[in-house]
Amino acid sequence: MKVDVILGLQWGDEGKGKIVDVLTPNYDIVARFQGGPNAGHTLEFEGQKYILKSIPSGIFQEGIMNIIGNGVVIDPALFKQEVDKLEETGHILTDRLYISKKAHLILPTHRLLDAASETAMGEEKIGTTGRGIGPTYTDKISRHGLRVGDLFHNFQEKYQKVVERHKKILSRYNIQYDLEALEKEWFEGVEKIKQYKVIDSEFFINKHISSGGSVLAEGAQGSLLDIDFGSYPFVTSSNTICAGACTGLGIAPQQIGDVFGIFKAYCTRVGSGPFPTELFDNDGQKLRDNGNEYGSVTGRPRRCGWIDLVALRYTIMLNGVNKLVMMKSDVLDSFDTIKVCVSYTVDGVETEDFPFDISETIIPNYIEIPGWKTDMTAIRSENEFPEEFNNYIAFLEEELEVPISIVSVGPDRAQTIIR
Ligand code: GDP
Ligand code: IMO
Ligand code: MG
Repeated sequence: MKVDVILGLQWGDEGKGKIVDVLTPNYDIVARFQGGPNAGHTLEFEGQKYILKSIPSGIFQEGIMNIIGNGVVIDPALFKQEVDKLEETGHILTDRLYISKKAHLILPTHRLLDAASETAMGEEKIGTTGRGIGPTYTDKISRHGLRVGDLFHNFQEKYQKVVERHKKILSRYNIQYDLEALEKEWFEGVEKIKQYKVIDSEFFINKHISSGGSVLAEGAQGSLLDIDFGSYPFVTSSNTICAGACTGLGIAPQQIGDVFGIFKAYCTRVGSGPFPTELFDNDGQKLRDNGNEYGSVTGRPRRCGWIDLVALRYTIMLNGVNKLVMMKSDVLDSFDTIKVCVSYTVDGVETEDFPFDISETIIPNYIEIPGWKTDMTAIRSENEFPEEFNNYIAFLEEELEVPISIVSVGPDRAQTIIR
């Protein structure tokens, strides 16, 4: 069997967690391949809502193995908080959660460095989630990082060496911090991690594929936040695109099967950086209100705008998407007309290609499509779709040249239509 990949095509928060949960019964393994607790993946079922940060979204389905892959960065303190909360609600994960030895550790000082760097950048800050993601990946690339496998051999010594380095960097910023308090929580988290199955996940996954098993790779963030192809420098520090599943799990490119690309029926972004179709008017506020667009990790209001097909064509290309998943269609239920950005005008020239620098003045060119003015949240089958909604889907499929295989009409697991 091949590894199917599910990933965001916009600036994150597309609804990946919900769809991973829906698709999980078709697989034996669900694996996160990059990012860390900057992610907030929401799942709703049976009247309960869960927000997962480091733990893969397949965790609630019985008998499925969940893996935190080598490409992920993990903060033991936040990991402990997350599992403790799940345990309180009766979800014991020790038999079904596996962690790669090669996943890098987010240290308390990485979080301090993230905060210090953002403060120092002032107006130009990236608007990170403050989880220490950038500094941890920086240490990984500059070969100073610590990994989960290190926890089992002379860890204190290795830890102190890295922390001394970080303290020197922190001393350049004029900030106060209580490292001892942070370390207490962090080392309790380390003990928690040790209770889980810490494995050579690349062997585990490849053996599983060779013996006919199935794997779903769960992306975090979105393709427009990719370190190489996103709206740099307003991006995250990992490869969020499909290629990241190969490096983040240790699987060969030819093992990739279906690539599910998830997008909202409109578009959102949280944090700083360019967003060509952003709305600052009543329509933007209506999208935020109807879609409850507030960050699952930081609670920040998300910036909202119309769907952008220039950006979507680009991210579909980068990922080799062969199945599209359209989320939050219900959020557009009350709009008279819906705008779709089909091209940009940059320096007076119309283009359908995503430009190098999207912080330049970009004029989005829209076409307007009649809205369906129907409450879709109770719809459970494609036959019940209003005609105008079918037209919206048909238009997007024609423009994007990829079928929309799944449509979501509400946050609950049940509010999902497979076409
Ligand atoms: P992720 O990071 O990609 O997993 O997405 P988030 O969980 O951060 O954000 C998606 C938000 O939209 C969550 O609050 C979900 O419960 C909610 N959601 C998902 N699908 C739908 C949908 O079809 N309609 C509505 N109204 N909300 C949805
Ligand atoms: P999920 O997986 C939305 C954004 C931050 C910031 C930039 C860099 O839930 O879709 P970082 O902390 O990664 O250094 O922040 O990336 N960002 C996200 N935005 N959803 C996410 O994850 C995000 N993870 C990071 O807001 O702009
Ligand atoms: Mg999210």
